[in-house]
Amino acid sequence: MSKKLFIETLGCAMNSRDSEHMIAQLREKEGYETTDDLKSADLIIINTCSVREKPVAKLFSELGVFNKNKKEGAKIGVCGCTASHLGDEIIRRAPYVSFVLGARNVSKITEVLHRDRAVEVDINYDESEFAFNDFRTSPYKAYINISIGCDKSCTYCIVPKTRGDEISIPAELILREAQRAVERGAKEVFLLGQNVNNYGRRFSGDHEKVNFTELLRRLSLIEGLERLRFTSPHPFHMDDEFIEEFAKNPKICKSMHMPLQSGSTKVLRDMKRGYSKEWFLERVEKLRSVCPDVSISTDIIVAFPGESDEDFEDSLDVMRRVRFEQIFSFKYSPRPETEAEHFTNVIDDDVASHRLTTVQNLNTDILDENNQTHLGKIYRVYFEDLNKDYHVSGRSDNNLVIKVKGSDELLGQFRDVKITQIGRTILTGEVVG
Ligand code: 5AD
Ligand code: SF4
Repeated sequence: MSKKLFIETLGCAMNSRDSEHMIAQLREKEGYETTDDLKSADLIIINTCSVREKPVAKLFSELGVFNKNKKEGAKIGVCGCTASHLGDEIIRRAPYVSFVLGARNVSKITEVLHRDRAVEVDINYDESEFAFNDFRTSPYKAYINISIGCDKSCTYCIVPKTRGDEISIPAELILREAQRAVERGAKEVFLLGQNVNNYGRRFSGDHEKVNFTELLRRLSLIEGLERLRFTSPHPFHMDDEFIEEFAKNPKICKSMHMPLQSGSTKVLRDMKRGYSKEWFLERVEKLRSVCPDVSISTDIIVAFPGESDEDFEDSLDVMRRVRFEQIFSFKYSPRPETEAEHFTNVIDDDVASHRLTTVQNLNTDILDENNQTHLGKIYRVYFEDLNKDYHVSGRSDNNLVIKVKGSDELLGQFRDVKITQIGRTILTGEVVG
């Protein structure tokens, strides 16, 4: 009988891919199969995120629950960004944890498994050319890492401290991985990196210097690959060449994540984002002028230290002008080892909460208005998920989540769908072609 692995993944898409990498290694080398049942697991892994404070506090209470409910003799491992950041402190605070494995060390999973209280959290460890075994949660869509780490120094962000310096994965490895995924049936490839459009700046070996735009061009030549997505690009690196390729390449899905963070040029400077409010708006204008159907999503942080009412108003102003299709908004959370942790002009928590609500309400209003425009329209949907209520769901090219009545024979298929019903997060329609 195979050993059972229970894995919980928090945080971003990179973490999800890291989990797939760990599952792949554990399956191939140790004979593990995944389970959703904690109590029957021989190995329990939490793949953590440390981007904000709350999830870190939650980790220790969750570890306690896992420890109480685990099967006799089962091991618990803590991986990911909080593992990188807290290291052996995790074992000090939760002595029943068997190993701690950083976000930049996932290839060592089968090794730490056999070393009691192993802590491997070196953020300079280079996994950019590691040949992971193949495992994908979805047969329809392949997530592929194109770089590790992050070279930016945004003053609020802990990621450079958990994932280290940025190294690009050689283009030939990415192309080979995409080719293999397509041969196995995936029609969509989703490229992942902290800063994807900075791709190609540094490789660890002597590799051809391919930039992100060129990488997209080459990937789009793969026969059978129908859709290309990526996250996250950085507004600072959105040059004309990239935007024009994005617009004209029919395989690149027309949805762009442009993390604004703040609409105030002063706050952006304090955040060390490298662009101004005007630059951001100009890039949006350029993008929309060459690609009118693009849907743009963003991240916004409210109440960064020193954010005045006027600064906050600038964020709302950008929201009103751009009318983002989706916004992920966060209250600023001070993180250890970041520059902003030492900023003194901290915003009162009541003000921060009020600002967050204001952003969320404005977002909802814009979303509701945007959504009305979809009624009666026809979108090409790639179906990926079977829902419990006899519905199948997927995404349109511009990233709308759309469901129709149907069964698993629609999975992995493209269909034209006419929108008949509007919901805030999901649209309902019927297949028309
Ligand atoms: N506080 C609040 N939000 C943060 N993010 C990153 N660091 C912080 C922080 N310290 C947000 C950013 C980023 C998203 C993944 O998380 O908006 O784009
Ligand atoms: Fe992803 Fe950032 Fe969270 Fe790490 S800290 S898992 S990079 S969101």
